[in-house]
Amino acid sequence: MTLAGATALVTGATGFLGGDIVRRLAAEGARVRALARRPGRDVYIRDVPNVEIVMGDITDAARMNELAAGCDYVLHCAAATGGSMTYQRRLNVDGTRSVMQAAAAARVRRVVHVSTIAVYGYGYTGDVTEDMPQKPGRVPYNVTKSEAEKVVREVGADNSLPYSIIRPGMIYGPRSGMWTMFMFNLGKRSPTIFLGDGSGYVHPIYIDDVVDMAVLLLTHPAAAGEAFNCAPDPAPTWREFLGGYSALAGHQNWRGLPALPFRIIAPLAELALTLRGEPQDVPALIPFLQGRKTYKMDKACRLLGWEARVSLDDGIRRCEPWLREKGLLP
Ligand SMILES: NC(=O)c1ccc[n+]([C@@H]2O[C@H](COP(=O)([O-])OP(=O)(O)OC[C@H]3O[C@@H](n4cnc5c(N)ncnc54)[C@H](OP(=O)(O)O)[C@@H]3O)[C@@H](O)[C@H]2O)c1
Repeated sequence: MTLAGATALVTGATGFLGGDIVRRLAAEGARVRALARRPGRDVYIRDVPNVEIVMGDITDAARMNELAAGCDYVLHCAAATGGSMTYQRRLNVDGTRSVMQAAAAARVRRVVHVSTIAVYGYGYTGDVTEDMPQKPGRVPYNVTKSEAEKVVREVGADNSLPYSIIRPGMIYGPRSGMWTMFMFNLGKRSPTIFLGDGSGYVHPIYIDDVVDMAVLLLTHPAAAGEAFNCAPDPAPTWREFLGGYSALAGHQNWRGLPALPFRIIAPLAELALTLRGEPQDVPALIPFLQGRKTYKMDKACRLLGWEARVSLDDGIRRCEPWLREKGLLP
């Protein structure tokens, strides 16, 4: 179904994923209300035809009601990806509630909520499908994103508000601070130093593929009320992912560090991170990084006919111009 002429509110529009979603919706002819909470953060989407930048905070229910009024669709990308449980709960759970309630009051046709594979937690190995129980553990991001999904389902059901949930893996591509810039810097170092032999699985998904699926979920009839993984299936190894960045930097050297010392200092590392206000379950994270699991894509293929189009090799190649622009590659 076409989005041309429809009005879509995008939260998190000044962020990495939200910015590309805004541009894609505008290119498809939608009128986009792009939510910015801070002035000066909208450079990537400013002056794009069909895009109106609107100011607001997702936790401000009255403002969200004003902004959702008259919209056909809402794409909810805004989130806190770090910070204390209290902070992340306010943004990710309370913020999601006010976005959903505003969408319900505006009687929009559908909300697409951007979740994450982190809702499954660190405990799974093997195949992970959408119907498996969420075990987010004690990491604030994982817990609050899982709680946000519950809010989406509750407000959706209580108000007959159609919704769909996308659970991306690690989104990489130009403008990604974590999964491209940081990982490239790790891979660039010769030898690349990582935990073990790098045979644990990682879940990088190229930005364009995530945008494709998020936009498709807005209108696909079979997506209503459903959640979908959005990750590489089969998953590559850390050696392949980081090694791809190493190859871009001109080497293939790898030094694997034994996991045992990391396991021993894990509780201390956790304490240090908690004191810094960034709680993380480090003891569980180490086996997670070494584990072999794939977030399965059968459901998206079966219900939506969707599959990722950008291979890991191609995705990494597509990051090259941006890394060069950032001065990280000669
Ligand atoms: N990046 C990944 O690898 C990844 C993987 C899986 C899922 N996700 C999910 O994808 C979504 C987007 O992530 P991202 O990587 O694009 O994050 P990001 O670059 O940090 O963007 C987050 C966006 O949310 C906005 N925001 C935060 N608090 C807000 C508030 N109170 N009111 C209004 N806007 C607020 C930020 O505004 P400012 O510009 O003012 O900070 C920013 O536009 C999130 O829901 C995240 O959980 C991301």
